[in-house]
Amino acid sequence: MKNELDPGLPRHVAVVMDGNGRWAERRGLPRLAGHQAGYRAVKTLVREAGRRGIRHLTLFAFSSENWGRPADEVAALMALFLKALRREVADLHRHGIRLDFIGDRDKLSLPLRRIMEDAQRLTAANEGLMLHVAVSYGGRWDMVNAAKRLAVATARGDLDPRSIDERTLAAQFTLGAVPDPDLFIRTGGEYRISNFLLWNLAYTELYFTETLWPDFDKRAFSAALSDFAGRQRQFGQVSAARFVDYA
Ligand code: IPE
Ligand code: IPE
Ligand code: MG
Repeated sequence: MKNELDPGLPRHVAVVMDGNGRWAERRGLPRLAGHQAGYRAVKTLVREAGRRGIRHLTLFAFSSENWGRPADEVAALMALFLKALRREVADLHRHGIRLDFIGDRDKLSLPLRRIMEDAQRLTAANEGLMLHVAVSYGGRWDMVNAAKRLAVATARGDLDPRSIDERTLAAQFTLGAVPDPDLFIRTGGEYRISNFLLWNLAYTELYFTETLWPDFDKRAFSAALSDFAGRQRQFGQVSAARFVDYA
């Protein structure tokens, strides 16, 4: 869906922030240094997205599969998330940003879960940018959850299985109440979804860049937005422009 303020601006941007490890390795630094530099890039992007009037920003911070990384990297990333939240939540709140965390919380530490819940509660009434952070998230996990919820509702007799349609199912996903992403950005030069928002990306415009995540700055974001503004979205139909051509 287009943005009310500017029809060329996406309402919802989803980002796979990839390339932190390579950024560090190229500098002869430990991978953690790349994740720390990535944190700075997140701050820049959140500020820019808010300033431009984007409504929803969904950031892929840690996937279901990232649990399979070496234990020290996983621990360092979890410590970084905790530190970043402790540092940033009050400031994000001051800027009217609403925080939302998606993913399998059961796998996260208690302090991390607590700070996420507190941050969601604190910022729940904010009306600025809505920032969805995907931690321990997988598109397939999201689908399994959605299926389970519907199964429970039908087993209880609360839902007639014959009445299940796209809307019923869509509402069960963690971003069920949010418009689908208009623009997907993946940095780091890999051309894949890596189990991000599988359901929600059905008609999203995809943008891939070789830029490594820590180098993704204001200009790089502008380039992605300009590219998006030039896209012709059809949603399986015939665009207005072409329709005029044949009329
Ligand atoms: C993305 O950067 C951050 C996370 C997955 C947590 P990577 O750590 O995947 O960086 P590369 O792909 O190894 O360069
Ligand atoms: C995707 O990056 C996940 C995040 C950015 C959090 P990965 O580095 O984990 O993806 P693959 O392994 O290249 O597919
Ligand atoms: Mg990677």
